[in-house]
Amino acid sequence: MRPMLSIATAAVFLATAFAVQAGGDPAAGKTKAKACAGCHGATGQGVKPNPKLAGLPEAELDQMMKDYKSGKRPNPVMKSMTSSLSEQDMANLAAYYSSLK
Ligand code: HEC
Repeated sequence: MRPMLSIATAAVFLATAFAVQAGGDPAAGKTKAKACAGCHGATGQGVKPNPKLAGLPEAELDQMMKDYKSGKRPNPVMKSMTSSLSEQDMANLAAYYSSLK
């Protein structure tokens, strides 16, 4: 269990460092988020069964989108939603949703 934990910690740390470096633009993210609103709600509040995105940490949102895109977190819906997003798009979306309450 211990090595697993430290790998997870390192991954979170790297994701945080990367997201800060990438510096998402919330205004650009808001434009892209029109495609997400149908499921996640106009303000990212979540509409069952679609999870809430508003107010989650930026690095976490960024990583979750990357994991869907890569297939590391398997989900057909989110895989297709993220397939056309660039790294910058995902950083912008993460910045936007983390800025919401
Ligand atoms: C067709 C409906 C639909 C659309 C459109 C959609 N999502 Fe999702 N999203 C889901 C579902 C369902 C899940 C939960 C999937 C799972 O179980 O992993 C999810 C999960 C997520 C998660 C993980 C949340 C968490 O706490 O685990 C993120 C981040 C996310 N979506 C971002 C987005 C973004 C950004 C967009 C727009 C580019 C988007 N989604 C568009 C249905 C959708």
